[in-house]
Amino acid sequence: MKIAVLANIKEDAPISPEDPPGRWDDLDDRLTVDAILESITTLGHEAKYFPAVLESIQEIKTFNPSLCFNSAEGYFGDSREAQMPAVLDMMRIPYTGSGVLGMMLSHNKHLAKRQFIQTGLPTAKFMVIEDINNIPESDLKYPMFVKPAFEGSSIGINEFAVSRNYEELVNQVRWVLNNLHSLVIVEEYIEGREFTVGILGDEPLPIVEIISPTGFYSRSQKEDFESEVYRVCPAKLTEAQTKEFQHLALRVKQVLNLEDVWRMDLRMDNAGNPYILEVNPIPLIYPDPKQASLIYAAYTKGYTYTDVVRKIIESAAKRWNLSLD
Ligand SMILES: Nc1ncnc2c1ncn2[C@@H]1O[C@H](COP(=O)(O)OP(=O)(O)OP(=O)(O)O)[C@@H](O)[C@H]1O
Ligand SMILES: [Mg+2]
Repeated sequence: MKIAVLANIKEDAPISPEDPPGRWDDLDDRLTVDAILESITTLGHEAKYFPAVLESIQEIKTFNPSLCFNSAEGYFGDSREAQMPAVLDMMRIPYTGSGVLGMMLSHNKHLAKRQFIQTGLPTAKFMVIEDINNIPESDLKYPMFVKPAFEGSSIGINEFAVSRNYEELVNQVRWVLNNLHSLVIVEEYIEGREFTVGILGDEPLPIVEIISPTGFYSRSQKEDFESEVYRVCPAKLTEAQTKEFQHLALRVKQVLNLEDVWRMDLRMDNAGNPYILEVNPIPLIYPDPKQASLIYAAYTKGYTYTDVVRKIIESAAKRWNLSLD
């Protein structure tokens, strides 16, 4: 089968001096694209990389793939991860991963949270702020956590993300509004442990615990490979807790319209209650388990990198009724 790999890699990012720090952190490295290409070739398919930009459309058409392996985060717009799925739908080319709706709902964390609340899935109480002069009255309790509504890789999450009082809250909300030009989510801070659960197809992977000396996972920690943040997999949880978290990760599939691969981040408070933080519909699959939780979880289960790519492709092929010969 011919498979086109679509991604927006860091070295092609349209960097501008106005960019906030870490603006392009969630884009792929060329190394990831090469690892995906190599795996697809190992699986006996033909693979070619195309930058996920409008200028590639004609070349993709000419290549005429049976399937696209979509890793495109997009560059601009409030649902940038949904753009490539929309284009591929218009071109009638099948692709791996979530469609427009799944990407849009997960990229906008406040919309995902509304879906969770409506369907009875646990998530921290929150409010959305658009304007610094209009902070809504709320019954949220301090400490509160301030983050942009639509970014990844902890962009906009610095050491002041936890606010203990109104003054700190206003300062941090102002900083995010001014620097990231994003809606702001303010939610109750969940004191406790942090986990992430990856899914391949319909198969939950072992749970990864993320342990950070500051209690939460900031941008500088994600950037700094020497930071004291570390991961443990399988996480030390009871069998019942493991099943519960994996079940939650599968439930979000229906609620957010996810497909083939995703990663759900959650926290557990000191009483053992889970709270879904967010869902990543294009989780990092950088080929180093120290940096990519989903890869770490897959390796822990005994899978190779190529197995991860194979499972994503098999799941998509089944949905799109494609034969893998
Ligand atoms: N309500 C909360 N309570 C405690 N910590 C939180 C809360 N919300 C976010 N965090 C911390 O901030 C980090 C980043 O938040 P979140 O996962 O929502 O954003 P992200 O930037 O999209 O991350 P990713 O890189 O996984 O896409 C979390 O890993 C967690 O440590
Ligand atoms: Mg996260």
